[in-house]
Amino acid sequence: EAIRRREMLRCHDLAAKFYHHILLNTEAGVPALQYLQRRGLTLPTIEEFQLGFAPDRWDLLLTFFKKRGFEEEFLERAGLLSASQNQPGRYFDRFRGRVMFPIQDGQGRVIGFGGRILGKGEPKYLNSPETELFQKGRHLYNLHRARPFIRQQGRTILLEGYMDVIMAHQYGIRNVVAALGTALTLEQAKILKRNGNEIVMMYDGDRAGQNASVRSSEVITEAGGVPRVTVLPDGLDPDEFLRKFGTESFERIVEEGTISSTAFKLKMLRSNSQLSTQEGVIAFLSEAVRIIAEAKSPVERETYLRELAGEFNVSLESLKEEMKMVISNQK
Ligand code: CTP
Ligand code: MN
Ligand code: MN
Ligand code: MN
Ligand code: MN
Repeated sequence: EAIRRREMLRCHDLAAKFYHHILLNTEAGVPALQYLQRRGLTLPTIEEFQLGFAPDRWDLLLTFFKKRGFEEEFLERAGLLSASQNQPGRYFDRFRGRVMFPIQDGQGRVIGFGGRILGKGEPKYLNSPETELFQKGRHLYNLHRARPFIRQQGRTILLEGYMDVIMAHQYGIRNVVAALGTALTLEQAKILKRNGNEIVMMYDGDRAGQNASVRSSEVITEAGGVPRVTVLPDGLDPDEFLRKFGTESFERIVEEGTISSTAFKLKMLRSNSQLSTQEGVIAFLSEAVRIIAEAKSPVERETYLRELAGEFNVSLESLKEEMKMVISNQK
C-alpha cells in the first residue's frame, strides 16, 4: 500500500517534469509557451509553478512511462492514462493538447494535474480523477507555498482558479489558494482555519462566483473561521483584475472592499428583490432577518436589524420579534 503510494508520487513527479520539459525545451511546446506568455506569465512564474504542456498525442506519456517500466493499469489508476472504451486493455494519454498545472499536496508533492485547453473548447479544464493520492475536496491549490504567508498574516485569500492564484503570486500576493473546483468543502475550510482565522473570498465577479461565495462562507463559519467576501468590479476574475489594475488596487479591495458574509448575503438578497412593492419589501425583510439570524455576534445582529428598521421604517421590536420566530422555527 505505502509502496504503491510512493510509486504513484514518483510517476506524478516524473510526469510533471516531462510536461514541463516539453513546454520549455521542445518545438511541440512553443504554442503553449506563447499562450502562457500572451496571458502575461513570466518565465520565473512558469518555473515556480512547474507549468507544462501535454501535446495533442495519444501515446506520448504512455511511451515515456513504458520505457521506464511502469504498468499501464497502474498509470490508469494514477489518473495519468485513460482506458479505451471499445478496445479493452488499451490505454492512452488522459491529457492531450493541454497546458498542465501540477497540483501539489501540503508538502509540495505533485498529486494530480489540471489541464487547460489552448484557446476554446470543452471542457476548459480537465483535472485528474479522484485517486488514492488526489481527492480534490481535501486539497487546496498552492497551499504549500501560501502557508507561511497565511500564518504570518492570519489571513487567507481564497480564489477560484489556477490562473488567479498564479497571477496573484506573480504580483507579489502570496497568501492565496484555490479550492479545486467549485465550492469549498468543510475539510478544506478546516485546513485553512488551522493556519489563520480570516478567510477572504475573492471569487469571480460573475453570478457563479457570487453564489459560490455564499456557499463557501457558510462552510467557513461551520469550520469556525471568519468568512469575508470581496466583490470584484465588472465581472472580472482576480487574474484579469490584477493585469488591469495591479497589486495596489488588489490590496485596496482586500482591505477596504471586504465585507462580512452577512453583509454580502444581504447585498445579494437586495439585488434580487422587488423593493418597489409592499409584498416585495415584506418578503425581503423576512428573508433578511433569516440571514441576520445566522450571524454569531449579537452586536452584529442588532446593527443590521437597526439599519433595516431605519431604512424601511419598521420598528426594531418587530424585526426582533420576527427573528425570534425564525430562530424558534429552526429548532
Ligand atoms: N474548473 C474546472 N473544470 C472546468 C472549469 C473550471 O476544474 N471545466 C475549475 C478550475 O480550477 C478553474 C476554476 O474552476 O481554474 C475557475 O473556473 P473559470 O473561472 O471558468 O476558469 P479560470 O480559472 O478563470 O481560467 P482561465 O482564466 O484560464 O479561463
Ligand atoms: Mn524548470
Ligand atoms: Mn468563473
Ligand atoms: Mn480567468
Ligand atoms: Mn475565472
